[in-house]
Amino acid sequence: MSIWRFFGLASLVGSAIAATPAQWRTRSIYFMLTDRFALTDNSTTATCDTDNGVYCGGSWQGIINQLDYIQGMGFTAIWITPVTEQLSQHTADGEAYHGYWQQDIYSVNSNYGTADDLKSLASALHDRDMYLMVDVVTNHMGYAGAGDTVDYSVFNPFNSEDYFHSYCEITDYSNLTMVEKCWEGDTIVSLPDLNTESTTVQNIWNDWITDLVSNYSIDGLRIDSVMEVQKDFWAGFEAAAGVYCVGEVDNGDATLVCPYQEVLDGVLDYPMYYPLLRAFESTSGSISGLYDMINTVKSDCSDSTLLGTFIENHDNPRFASYTEDMSLAKNVATFTIMSDGIPIIYAGQEQHYNGGSDPYNREATWLSGYNTDSELYKLIAQANAIRNKAIYQAEDYITYKNYPIYQDDTTLAMRKGFNGTQTITVLSNLGESGSEYTLTLADTGFVAGLAVTEIFTCSSITVDDSGDVAVPMSGGEPRILYPTSELSGSTLCS
Ligand SMILES: *[C@@H]1O[C@H](CO)[C@@H](O)[C@H](O)[C@H]1NC(C)=O
Ligand SMILES: *[C@@H]1O[C@H](CO)[C@@H](O)[C@H](O)[C@H]1NC(C)=O
Ligand SMILES: *[C@@H]1O[C@H](CO)[C@@H](O)[C@H](O)[C@H]1NC(C)=O
Ligand SMILES: *[C@@H]1O[C@H](CO)[C@@H](O)[C@H](O)[C@H]1NC(C)=O
Repeated sequence: MSIWRFFGLASLVGSAIAATPAQWRTRSIYFMLTDRFALTDNSTTATCDTDNGVYCGGSWQGIINQLDYIQGMGFTAIWITPVTEQLSQHTADGEAYHGYWQQDIYSVNSNYGTADDLKSLASALHDRDMYLMVDVVTNHMGYAGAGDTVDYSVFNPFNSEDYFHSYCEITDYSNLTMVEKCWEGDTIVSLPDLNTESTTVQNIWNDWITDLVSNYSIDGLRIDSVMEVQKDFWAGFEAAAGVYCVGEVDNGDATLVCPYQEVLDGVLDYPMYYPLLRAFESTSGSISGLYDMINTVKSDCSDSTLLGTFIENHDNPRFASYTEDMSLAKNVATFTIMSDGIPIIYAGQEQHYNGGSDPYNREATWLSGYNTDSELYKLIAQANAIRNKAIYQAEDYITYKNYPIYQDDTTLAMRKGFNGTQTITVLSNLGESGSEYTLTLADTGFVAGLAVTEIFTCSSITVDDSGDVAVPMSGGEPRILYPTSELSGSTLCS
């Protein structure tokens, strides 16, 4: 390779990719709490009792050490929890190990390492052509004490009461004025609520995010507490960031959540989360609710392919806390990866962790020993691989809006992708004890006589003369069909 190509490459890797929404929609995200994913010394035995709500020792260097584990599942991006310096007290609500109780937005949280460690994480990701998404909070700071006892001088900047809304508790989440102007938190740790209507506050945040993205070569942002800030704050903030932003609007109502996509590139797909959970949390879940929500989100949100799709995170109980059934867990993971939106898998989901509500859903990933043989690790790797391959084969695969083609009481089938290069995903909530049978599927868009491969079982199926596909179902497991000829060059089923 010529020296010019060498330098061209060197200047590309390690520097900010500043990725656009169009680039991000092709990605797949692994999300972790930095404190709970990996230790600098690679320990797999260090204790971490979620109940205590204290720092367990995870670090940015720890994440660097485990990038093979993450990339081995086919992920092309990670999302890490906030990086800013936090309140340092041990409170009755625990410590700020999660990162949502910041006090100094210009310093990084030294529990996770140094500013250079965070830069090294960005470089290590970019060397692998992976993206770094960082969680940011603009709604509030964090203070150990009740709302009427806050010593504002501890904050950098925002070191006076003038930057904040006056104290009131959010008591009614259906009152948007109250959600925007009053405070989250409780009387042990209050979350002083910034007056984001003030142009002084807006300018501080906009300058800050421009610098944060640039200082640490950040490729995208996950934004916390989006509904708690007035809508007209976001367009300016996103423009100052200059990267793809996905916001947290923690509500299941598409008519409430989708309008935030007019001011941010994407939002977490909470409207889909609830029917997805209800469809698969038991063998008697509602498939039709999920089928309907696919269409609702497509019509209500401006672009379903830029949402963040998930079934687990650090705020909601783990899927396995509802059911230990492995088939059901495989189906929700498959939906997450194969439907519209950027897939987000939460660290520990691949190990079938089963913690309930916060703080129990924040188990240390290292205690699994980073087992790459677990059933869900392998399934996620296969689903990401076929998605990555389909995107590589056909550019317009990823902008095709996922289309549900079939439902019955226990089955949902959906199509993504144009003629000849589509994936057909078949999901079932029959569970592990589901019987063996053949599902005859029409409307796949595959032409008669086409050879397709089911990628989890590597079985070959020929589309029959009338265009139907005979899909072998068993044990309630999900299925993904893809044209066999399009698989060449892939490690899947080779
Ligand atoms: C931790 O793992 C990484 C990646 O395998 C390795 O480079 C590093 O030397 C290990 N560190 C220790 C302290 O064992
Ligand atoms: C909503 O909250 C605001 C601010 O607390 C309050 O002034 C208003 O009365 C509330 N509206 C309703 C309908 O309760
Ligand atoms: C970015 O780096 C500059 C120069 O070191 C520093 O002054 C500034 O505070 C940093 N900003 C953020 C948000 O990290
Ligand atoms: C798909 O193929 C059918 C039949 O060949 C054709 O009528 C249709 O226009 C094609 N659609 C797209 C989106 O290419």
